[in-house]
Amino acid sequence: MAADALTAPAVDASGGRGRHGPGWREEARSDVYWGLAHGLPRLLIRAAARRGDLQGRLMLVPASGDQVWELLAQAQAAGPMIRSRLSYLTADHAAVREILSSPDFRSGRPTRADSPVERLLQRTVPRVPHPIEPPSLLVTEPPDHTRYRRLVTRVFTARAVERLRARTEAVATELLDGLDPATPVDLISSYCTQLPLTIIAEILGVPPAQRDLVLELATRAAPSLDFGLGWRQFRTVTAALRDFAQWLDTHVERLRRNPGEDLLSQLIEARDEAGALDDRELKAIAGLVLAAGFETTVNLLGNAIVLLGKHPDQLGRLRGDSALWPNAVDEALRVDPPVLLTARVCTHATSVAGAEVPAGTQVVAVLAGANRDPKVFDDPARFDVARENARDHISFSGGRHYCLGASLARMEGEVGLRALTERFPGLRLLPGARRRPTRVLRGYEILPARLR
Ligand code: HEM
Repeated sequence: MAADALTAPAVDASGGRGRHGPGWREEARSDVYWGLAHGLPRLLIRAAARRGDLQGRLMLVPASGDQVWELLAQAQAAGPMIRSRLSYLTADHAAVREILSSPDFRSGRPTRADSPVERLLQRTVPRVPHPIEPPSLLVTEPPDHTRYRRLVTRVFTARAVERLRARTEAVATELLDGLDPATPVDLISSYCTQLPLTIIAEILGVPPAQRDLVLELATRAAPSLDFGLGWRQFRTVTAALRDFAQWLDTHVERLRRNPGEDLLSQLIEARDEAGALDDRELKAIAGLVLAAGFETTVNLLGNAIVLLGKHPDQLGRLRGDSALWPNAVDEALRVDPPVLLTARVCTHATSVAGAEVPAGTQVVAVLAGANRDPKVFDDPARFDVARENARDHISFSGGRHYCLGASLARMEGEVGLRALTERFPGLRLLPGARRRPTRVLRGYEILPARLR
């Protein structure tokens, strides 16, 4: 692809047909897919919510508001496993943990592999790599999942992450040096995004000149994890994923020809007894690591800055005892997690928390709810940077899909928050903060602040 094609998305942001866009046949197929995967569930969710169904209401609650906590408290009061009109739902810490770790539950769609609906979905799914379509790690199960994880963790080691600490500190300093304390700033675009984006771009060998493009593509593709997307939004997201895939093709080819010291170059070379990852697998993993590697960490930084802004006494404790920072990061992840929920499908009839769960049932596991389970966390809504069991949150999921980037995210959270609050002790948040419209990913889009 020509260099200028990297800066000009092949399909415009409204999802219209561009020069390299899909043909009409593919568009028609993708409309059928949207109807089955999003349109129909959307109607069902709305109908359930109108009838007062807790799960339906939870799925439609605006990402901007705090009503989510009220609904989750209602869910907890209704018992550990709730049978809704749509599926099962749990906001119970023990049940969420059990489901995520159980071999009786798998990730992916609830439809059976041999059902006519699944066959139609397979035939019509847009031919673009998607974070919740195979071979993405998120929806792959053993034995493939075990193999992918083994190969990725071979290069993504705790030691490799710890080596990045000094670099993360240097990037944070550089970014803070660039902020003008005399004028109000948007902390999300000037700091919370730039820090994890720079680090993950370096991990994956993305040249600095291409970071803004990656940011733009990932932002457009962020709602890809949401359920019940509207038709227009589905098209916009599909177009963004297609542009992202085209960019990634070029990037991987460049590293193949000219490998660097980065982890993606190592992953291209990584092999096990079954050989190297094939092209599709490699790009699915690289794409997920790149997107997951900063979208969520931006949310961690933004959510934590708001929590610290609302609780100056807690910031005061951190100033008095900097050894509390790692725990403060976990407490922020517990109280306002960057990922609201995930879901699993029961493969064999089983029971969880005393409830019978039939095979084929989908269970929505609300991570944010588990994190505020009063059976595990005293006064769960209280933000307490010294909470002893803050690390027992489930914001990084659990079991075999436990977040691959958890130690990187924790390190970036600690370095990023500490550097910001030490450099600008008089930092004040200004009115005008706005949350992102995404539902599964929870974070801020704009966070205006005065630095002194
Ligand atoms: C605060 C930041 C982060 C949060 C809250 C977070 C959260 C999560 C969650 C909840 C899952 C599992 C979803 C499920 O079980 O269905 C997950 C998986 C994953 N995360 Fe993260 N993540 C963060 C940062 C990162 C970073 C920095 C990276 C990359 C370097 C990363 C890479 C991944 C990958 C590759 C998976 C898929 C693992 C698998 O399915 O085996 N994440 N993350």
